[in-house]
Amino acid sequence: MAEEEFIQTPKGMHDLTPEDCAYFYRIENACRRLAKDYRFDRIDFPILENALLFKKGTGANTDIVEKQMYTLRTKSGEVLALRPEGTPSVVRFYLEHGARTWPQPVKLWYWGPFFRYEKAQAGRYRQFHQFGFEIIGGGDAALDAQVINLFYRLLAELKIKNLVVEINSIGRPGERETYQKVLVKQLKKSESELCVDCRRRLARNPLRILDCKEPACQEIVGQLPHVVDYLSDECRQHFQEVLELLGELNIPYRLNPHLVRGLDYYTRTVFEIVQSDDEEKKALVGGGRYDGLVELLGAPPAPAVGAAAGIERIVSAMKSSGHRVVYREKPEVFIAQLGPAAKKEAIKIFEELRQRGVKVAEAFGRNSLNAQLKRADRLGVKYTVIIGQKEALDGTITLKTMSTGQQRFVKRSQAVSLIKKRL
Ligand code: HAM
Repeated sequence: MAEEEFIQTPKGMHDLTPEDCAYFYRIENACRRLAKDYRFDRIDFPILENALLFKKGTGANTDIVEKQMYTLRTKSGEVLALRPEGTPSVVRFYLEHGARTWPQPVKLWYWGPFFRYEKAQAGRYRQFHQFGFEIIGGGDAALDAQVINLFYRLLAELKIKNLVVEINSIGRPGERETYQKVLVKQLKKSESELCVDCRRRLARNPLRILDCKEPACQEIVGQLPHVVDYLSDECRQHFQEVLELLGELNIPYRLNPHLVRGLDYYTRTVFEIVQSDDEEKKALVGGGRYDGLVELLGAPPAPAVGAAAGIERIVSAMKSSGHRVVYREKPEVFIAQLGPAAKKEAIKIFEELRQRGVKVAEAFGRNSLNAQLKRADRLGVKYTVIIGQKEALDGTITLKTMSTGQQRFVKRSQAVSLIKKRL
């Protein structure tokens, strides 16, 4: 079959190669360590959820729900969605498992695949992976700062360079409505100069005009008042506190008055952690406070804050920052064998060495000794164990020191201890 006839991954979906998986492990290990330090507990939730959870939670008018959600109808007529994000599921979990009665706030983290029917392009996939950290049941500004701090330290630990936290406060719904009215009034004056998308947003979701990337829209947006000027004293105080705490923690941040984020549930703090290279700005993490979501999903209100990171984007940022992850450990010992009796012995020695913590390699599928020795050379091992028919009969092995080429017979019964001692 010619290559182009293979059935390939669907558009926007991608495989994780062994190298990708090594990066994923490294990132997951960092997450686990930080989760332990900051006292977050890991949960997992279904990839398929009731579509209503996102319509209500993420917002029916958001791009994520309106344009990008994969939905399906089951044979029994349920309408389910492939989860496009994790926050509504975490809140559902909190309610469904009675976490309201646990000591508050409840700190949870998760990791896994998410799905959005996006225009596929570099760094933007239709199946991608996120991890998220959420704190439900706490409204203090210190929790906003802790979430930002955790993500910032995690990225720094992964040696990602040129990180900046972009931050804004969008207040509570009432304040935002007042601001929105002012925006619409002003934007109407230059409606014809806005891009097609923003003209549509003007009626349905005017705040999103603030983060439109079109130069013509950006110029208009530059003249608009800022949402922080419409905050209540309480919200302004909260924002001030978050910024002061970030200062105390030495986290570099930049106020971005146009940051609004594309999900409906945010209140007060919104932030992104971006990697700014010369020409490009990539959002690795996005999050904020969502004090209204628990109530929106049907329970008495509870404040909350959290964020999620795009794992593919982190991998690419690690690579561009020069952080290479080795995905195959270099072996220390190679086992070469010749003949059926020797192969049996070789398999046993491999297992004994492995159990003693030695990194072993083999080529059991090869029967030419020459080919096996060449492989051992290429792998750069310290020692090669050679077992031929003679050794198998004598109860010995030949131990070759690769740096000198020196070979010696060793009793089979002493071989494993000797190798272990010499390494
Ligand atoms: P989000 O900004 O939509 O927020 O996604 C968070 C991160 O996921 C982004 O910064 C980006 O790195 C990554 N990401 C999003 N879409 C894609 C894509 N199509 N391909 C690759 N990476 C992507 C949320 O999802 C919120 N649930 C975050 C949150 C948690 N807010 C409060 N708690």
